Formats: sequence, structure tokens, C-alpha cells
Amino acid sequence: MNHAEEIWKTLVRATVDKKHPWRVVGFSTAGPKGPQVRSVILRAANTDDHQLVFYTDRRSQKMADIAHDSRVALLFWNPRSNTQLRVCGIAAPQTSELIVNSLWARIPEYARKDYATLSAPGDALTGGDLVYDLDTARANFVVLNVKVLSLELLELKREGHVRFRCDLDETGHWIHQNMIP
Ligand SMILES: Cc1cc2nc3c(=O)[nH]c(=O)nc-3n(C[C@H](O)[C@H](O)[C@H](O)COP(=O)(O)O)c2cc1C
Repeated sequence: MNHAEEIWKTLVRATVDKKHPWRVVGFSTAGPKGPQVRSVILRAANTDDHQLVFYTDRRSQKMADIAHDSRVALLFWNPRSNTQLRVCGIAAPQTSELIVNSLWARIPEYARKDYATLSAPGDALTGGDLVYDLDTARANFVVLNVKVLSLELLELKREGHVRFRCDLDETGHWIHQNMIP
């Protein structure tokens, strides 16, 4: 793999192939309490506008972190191809209600529960069972876009590791730079 274009093709593949290792992404933020990282699912990869799409709960810590500093770093690892991808970008919630509603409509009932806890994700669980309010789930659902600014790939190989980066320039083109691994 040696081009931004190929990386984007792989990212798109990871959104349709549920077994693709790049489907689960390490998503890191720089929040008021310091750095944090967590696993999230890559929901879409829009090659033309250089955006990756994630779903989350508006009440989650990552949303507070992004409000503090919108810069994020993402980490992908494929043990089949020994390939690591590091991504830097700017995160912002999708503001089009039309788009959020159409994506929400595709989420199955069981998965909507993820956004329906009465208390916020990360709050202390006091008492027994979780309490859900499905009526508020849609309001808690956030589509998070990450505008990708740089991609850095490292492929581990016996005959010699390969490392390169691709940075987005002002004209929307990827500038390729080989690197010492
Ligand atoms: C395999 C896997 C996939 C996950 N996918 C998501 C996801 O798509 N969106 C999300 O908000 N949390 C997802 N989570 C939960 C997060 O890792 C995290 O626990 C949660 O979002 C709260 O993080 P925060 O408090 O840092 O915001 C996933 C966890 C795992 C283990």
C-alpha cells in the first residue's frame, strides 16, 4: 500500500466488511482532564471530502473533550497485513438534522438502546439495573465527522518496514512523503 487513495479504499472497505480490523478504531482526544483514548466503530469513510464518520452519545466524555479541543488522533491496526495507520484530524458533530435523522432511521431498535440510558455514559451506576428512556435516545445520538488532515502508514515487513505520510494541502491534494521507519 503506497498511496492515500489506497488507504481511503481500505477505510471504505472497513466500513462494509464487519470483520475488517480497521473497523474498530482507537479514537483519542485532548480534553480538559488530559489525553484520552477509546475504541469506536468506523461508520463511514467519505473519500471526496476526506471525512471519517463515527456515532456517539452527546453526553459522553469524548464530546466534552472535542468541545475543548477539536483536534483528534485515530489509530488503526491490521494484524493480517501488519499495518498501522495513524490519522490526525478535526472532529465536529454533524449539524444537518436531515442527515442525522436519516442515519438514525437505519439504526436497529436494539442498537438505539446504546443512546437511551437515563444517566449519562460514564456516570456512576447506583442501585441495580440500567434505566432506559428510548424517547430521548435520538436526542443523545451524535454523528461525529472527522476531517482528516494527515495519514501516516507503517507496514511491518521482514525485508524492511515501510513508513510514509500523506498530508492534505490547501488545494485538497495529498502530499506523499516517505519516512524512515
Ligand atoms: C469494540 C468497541 C466498539 C465501540 N464502538 C463505539 C462507538 O462506535 N461509539 C461510541 O461512542 N462508543 C463506542 N464504544 C465504547 C467506547 O470505547 C467508550 O467506552 C465510550 O464511548 C465512552 O467513552 P468516553 O467516555 O471517552 O466518551 C465501543 C467500545 C468497543 C469495545
